[in-house]
Amino acid sequence: MAAHGPRTVAAIVVAAGSGERLGADIPKAFVHVGGKTLLEHAAGPFVAHPDVDDVVVVAAAEHLELAGALTGLDVVAGGATRQASVAAGVAALDPQIQFVLVHDAARPFVPGVVIDAVLAALRAGAEAVVPVIGIHDTVRRVAADGTLADTVDRSTLAAVQTPQGFRREVLVEAHEHGLGLAATDDAGLVEAIGGRVTAVPGAEEAFKVTTPADLDRARSVARLRSAAPLTMPGGTP
Ligand code: CTP
Ligand code: MG
Repeated sequence: MAAHGPRTVAAIVVAAGSGERLGADIPKAFVHVGGKTLLEHAAGPFVAHPDVDDVVVVAAAEHLELAGALTGLDVVAGGATRQASVAAGVAALDPQIQFVLVHDAARPFVPGVVIDAVLAALRAGAEAVVPVIGIHDTVRRVAADGTLADTVDRSTLAAVQTPQGFRREVLVEAHEHGLGLAATDDAGLVEAIGGRVTAVPGAEEAFKVTTPADLDRARSVARLRSAAPLTMPGGTP
């Protein structure tokens, strides 16, 4: 994190979900991957980024202390939905903050270049920015009776990742307006107030851990990253 000057960029890491689809006996953010929790992995690239001045973690009320002890960061209590959790993070922002990055604790390996790209787009004037990646699978609609319907043109589709970036006032307004709405993410809320959302390149490594198979993938990435045990003679692989 930057040490001097005005504090203009904050990241909000939302970690207040329960992780139902993962099915672990603890909330997803506290599941360990290669010796660290998903939350610690996910917050790391923002803490390390020279342009990010503040990092706020949003955790379930009963895990505030644990999240603070693990990360050493400011932690606020989340809500029943992701949207409510982001709103809690927004409410805790320092008044000086102009740009806000909203990131899922469930995405442990966001490359610094994706943070760079989101911030660059904001600095170039975008009000909302989402990282996207192409879709490799063939995508088909499925009718209610289970019959395959039309193939969707993949070249017009993208999968949306985080961190999503926002001009602070746009995010605040989108959340105020969105109180009664249920959007899947903050970019959706910005669109609901007529805002324009800009896409920048995301990264395969920024995948989200949703299911046990995703957790296996995260654990193998962590193993590859800590290369030392693989190269030590006689070491366990
Ligand atoms: N999140 C949150 N508060 C909620 C719900 C979700 O902060 N009430 C966060 C999660 O902790 C996660 C991110 O939003 O980092 C993306 O949500 P998702 O992957 O759906 O996580 P969970 O909601 O925990 O998982 P599931 O939907 O399988 O229960
Ligand atoms: Mg969820």
